[in-house]
Amino acid sequence: MSVKVNIRGQASAPGSLAHVLKGVKLKLVTLSGKGGVGKSLVTASVALGFAMRGYSVGILDGDVYGPTIPKMLGLSDSTLYVDQKTGRILPAVGPLGVKVVSIEFALPSDDTAVIWRAPLVNQALRDFIAQVEWGQLDVLVVDLPPGTGDAPLTIAQSLQGGLDGSIIVTIPTEISRRIVVKAVDFSRKLNIRVAGVVENMCCFKCPGDGKVYYIFGKEAGKRIAESAGVPFLGGIPMDPELSHYLDSGRLHEFLAKDTETSRAILAVVDKLAEMYKEKLAQQEQPKEEKPRRISLLKLPGEEEEE
Ligand SMILES: Nc1ncnc2c1ncn2[C@@H]1O[C@H](COP(=O)(O)OP(=O)(O)OP(=O)(O)O)[C@@H](O)[C@H]1O
Ligand SMILES: [Mg+2]
Repeated sequence: MSVKVNIRGQASAPGSLAHVLKGVKLKLVTLSGKGGVGKSLVTASVALGFAMRGYSVGILDGDVYGPTIPKMLGLSDSTLYVDQKTGRILPAVGPLGVKVVSIEFALPSDDTAVIWRAPLVNQALRDFIAQVEWGQLDVLVVDLPPGTGDAPLTIAQSLQGGLDGSIIVTIPTEISRRIVVKAVDFSRKLNIRVAGVVENMCCFKCPGDGKVYYIFGKEAGKRIAESAGVPFLGGIPMDPELSHYLDSGRLHEFLAKDTETSRAILAVVDKLAEMYKEKLAQQEQPKEEKPRRISLLKLPGEEEEE
């Protein structure tokens, strides 16, 4: 049977973003004013942390230019499929049952650079996001591209109205203050409640003596959050063991170990769960029919099956 499965041509019948996200109770987005501060780590950790607490969880890796979530979850070789009946994209399923959708799954190889220009990205992303079949989820965490420019704006706007909170990730230098303020401003302009600030690399956990060193001084993240008038969610140490687990796609195994760093990460999750406990306690919507026939997802410009 012939099926068209590119990410631009198959907006599903009900088709709106509100429709695809209607079975998701809590939608969070991670933001950072600058790149490389640990945003994807926080996205993946928060998602896995919620899953460890028994919630059903999804991750939308919205970083089209540098998707890293699949690698962190050991899903680099996964593929997305399309349900032939509904035309919806089916997420890959990672550790602890976390559902993952990333543009990386649709790219030919690990090293392929995405060089779409903004208008194509805007349209492709909107269509892409609107076609995912998340089903019933307690929590969806969205990873955005770094910064507060066009790329994160496009994705956040695509989900506008649907996001319940932003997690702003920063590193603990005083220079980061301005960057956090920008991210808070970005969030407010898009009418997304700021859930709070996570201070990544708050300190260094030395593998030699096991001691924790506050390289940039103590509580910079907390001060930054306070001065921006938003909650402080906690700090995550710079931990070589965490880095090792991340690089080998075993973040879930790291979080299951009882270490200072994993406790710090799960404390952030518990704060979020407490903050949004009413949303998480909502009744589930009635379940939809299970999909049956599936086929591979293709990118715009790729050959369509006849
Ligand atoms: N607390 C930490 N301890 C050890 N390594 C870390 C920590 N935080 C981040 N890293 C490492 O730093 C790198 C960057 O982290 P990550 O990819 O999460 O940043 P990002 O903000 O998402 O980057 P980008 O802006 O490129 O999307 C990763 O290789 C990760 O393994
Ligand atoms: Mg990232």
